[in-house]
Amino acid sequence: MATADDIAQIRARALADTAGATTLAGLDDVRVQHTGRRSTLAGILASIGTLPPEERGGVGKAANVARRDIEAALTERKSDLEASELAAQLTGDRTDVTLPGDPYPQGALHLLSQVRLEIEDIFLALGYEIADGPEVETEHYNFTALNTPEGHPARSSSDTFYVDGTSGTILRTQTSSVQVRVMEARTPPLYVISPGAVYRRDDVDATHSPMFHQLEGLAVDEGLSLAHLIGTLKHVAGQLLGSTEYRIIPDFFPFTEPSIQLLVRWTDRSGRGSWMELLGAGMVDPNVLRFAGYDSERWTGFAFGMGLDRIAMVRHGVPDLRMLFEGDLRFLDQFS
Ligand code: DAH
Repeated sequence: MATADDIAQIRARALADTAGATTLAGLDDVRVQHTGRRSTLAGILASIGTLPPEERGGVGKAANVARRDIEAALTERKSDLEASELAAQLTGDRTDVTLPGDPYPQGALHLLSQVRLEIEDIFLALGYEIADGPEVETEHYNFTALNTPEGHPARSSSDTFYVDGTSGTILRTQTSSVQVRVMEARTPPLYVISPGAVYRRDDVDATHSPMFHQLEGLAVDEGLSLAHLIGTLKHVAGQLLGSTEYRIIPDFFPFTEPSIQLLVRWTDRSGRGSWMELLGAGMVDPNVLRFAGYDSERWTGFAFGMGLDRIAMVRHGVPDLRMLFEGDLRFLDQFS
């Protein structure tokens, strides 16, 4: 038979186990072990009725007090453990809703694409169409059909990238290569522009890079004159650059006669103003029209080729052409 001493021992062990439980699951085991239906204490309480009457009061009271103390300790320990488990969860899994959000990177068109689209719009409004041409081109379309004879310095391998092992295949040095392709594919009158990348073995400096972008223009119609060409260029330069100073000087290109050059005022990195060539242009040489199979007695044409990168530089005060190709977002983001 259990004595008051036995009960005191059970109580003491149960209280110690309760205090020693470090998890809610562990505490539940303690509860089942000491107060569950099969616990020693439950057995004692169930057998009180079988005790001799003089022992019932003492043992019954001690057992009930022990059960109450153990249950109170279990309840208190449970709420302590719940609080610390919650605290651990909150520190482990902390979201500070007052922090600024992670910026989601937003794409934008590259400055050159923006400028190209803007120039395309100006020409589309004038009734021009957009044509495309290959960047890997034949010497024929890049030079020969443009009235540029064998042995011309521009054809030398120090100026032009020749594609290895394929004679007559080059990276186009100018978008003018699209001119004869367009004329072969269409019948006049035609008003076409063609933007794209071109390649030259140029020394790299603030205004030169081995890859850059041009926008070609070609108009073939009856009765076109230099006045139409200059009128068109002035209109486009005005739309693009506003009040920027520009001037037109004579030039030479194998595929135009006469040929001109349009220069714009430009401020370089040191703040010094100078003139920069923005485009070459001229009246299409009758030889080029004939190369394309056009009747050069009936049709006349004008053509121009502008540097897209240089327009972007002048427009946005970009001091170095290479910045456009380096992919540095700190630079590019300014134009997004
Ligand atoms: N292709 C010339 C260049 O790269 C630019 C040019 C000059 C284009 C005169 C033309 C033109 O269409 O008529 O320097």
